[in-house]
Amino acid sequence: MNLAHRTRLVARPRRLRASAALRALVRETHVNREGLVQPLFVVEGSDVVQPISSMPGVSRYSVDTVVRECRELAAVGVRAVLLFGIPDASSKDPYATINSDPNGVVQRAARAIKDALPELLVIADLCNCEYTDHGHCGILDAGGDVDNDRTLDVLAKTAISYARAGVDVVAPSDMMDGRVAAIRTALDDEGYTKTAIMSYAAKYASGFYGPFREAAESTPSFGDRRTYQMDPANGREALKEVRLDVEEGADIVMVKPAMAYLDVLARVREITDLPLAVYHVSGEYAMIKAAAANGWIDEERIVDETLTAMARAGADVIITYFAKDYLARTR
Ligand code: PBG
Repeated sequence: MNLAHRTRLVARPRRLRASAALRALVRETHVNREGLVQPLFVVEGSDVVQPISSMPGVSRYSVDTVVRECRELAAVGVRAVLLFGIPDASSKDPYATINSDPNGVVQRAARAIKDALPELLVIADLCNCEYTDHGHCGILDAGGDVDNDRTLDVLAKTAISYARAGVDVVAPSDMMDGRVAAIRTALDDEGYTKTAIMSYAAKYASGFYGPFREAAESTPSFGDRRTYQMDPANGREALKEVRLDVEEGADIVMVKPAMAYLDVLARVREITDLPLAVYHVSGEYAMIKAAAANGWIDEERIVDETLTAMARAGADVIITYFAKDYLARTR
C-alpha cells in the first residue's frame, strides 16, 4: 500500500527544507542588523558601571563610561542607541524640572557621545517618569491625575533641550494626547526641523516593564499608568493611536512591548507606510536571561527566533537589550 501515491501527493513543501542552502535560498525574513537599537541607562557621577540585577548583562553608565560603551557598541556594528536618563533622586521635583536642564544627564551624555562618535545615531527617550518625584509620566493636577495639557509644555521644552544637545531623534514614551504635534511645533519653532520624532504610538500598560522600573528608578509612588498607557486588551485602539501620531507628524511609529503584541505590530504594518519600530522590553529580556541561566532554553536560538518574529510581523526597527550581543556574535 502506498497511500502517498494513491492520493497523488503533489505538494511537497519539505522539498525546500532539505538543506541549509535551500532553506537560506527561500528564507523570507531577515533581521535588519542596522535597525537594531541598544537602550542605555545614564546616571550622574563618573566611572560608574552599575549592573542591573534583574537585567543580567545590562548596566547603568555615567557620562564618561557611556561613551566608552558606545565605542564598543559601534565596533560591533550598533548604529543607534536609545538614552534613558536617571537623575539623582535629590534633583527630582513634581514638575520634572531637571528634564529640560541643559546640563541634565541626557543632554551631557548626548553631547559627549556625539563628540566622540558623530556617526552613531542618538535617540533620546522623552518622558518625565524618571524626573518627577512622584514617578508619573506627567505633571499632576490637584486631584493627583496626570494633567495632559500641562505635560505637553514640559515635553516640548525638554525636546528642544535634547535637540540642542545634539540628539538626532526624540522618542516620546509618555502616551499623552497630542504630544507629537506639540513637540513637532516646538522643535520647528526653534529651528530644529531635522530632529526626528519616533513616537511610542501604541504603548501598553504592561507588566513587562518591571525590570526597567528598577533600572530607571521610575516606579510611580502611587497608582499606576493605566490612565495614560493603553489597555492590553485593545487592538483597534492601537490603530487609532498610530493614525493620530502619523497625522501629528511622527516620523517613526512604535509598538511596545513586542512579543505579546505581535498581532498589533502586524496590524499597524498594514495601515502605515512609515518606518515601524518595536520595543523588546526589559521583562522580555529578563525572562529569556533567567530561563537561559537555568539551562531551560538556548539563549542564542531563542533570541534569533524572537528578533526574526518581530521582523516577520513587520518591524523595521527593533529596540532590544540584546542588540550588542546579537551583532557581536552574528558578525
Ligand atoms: C518611560 C519608559 C518605560 C519604558 C520605556 N520608556 C517605562 C514605563 O513606561 O513604565 C519601558 C522599557 C522597558 O521595560 O524596557 N515611560
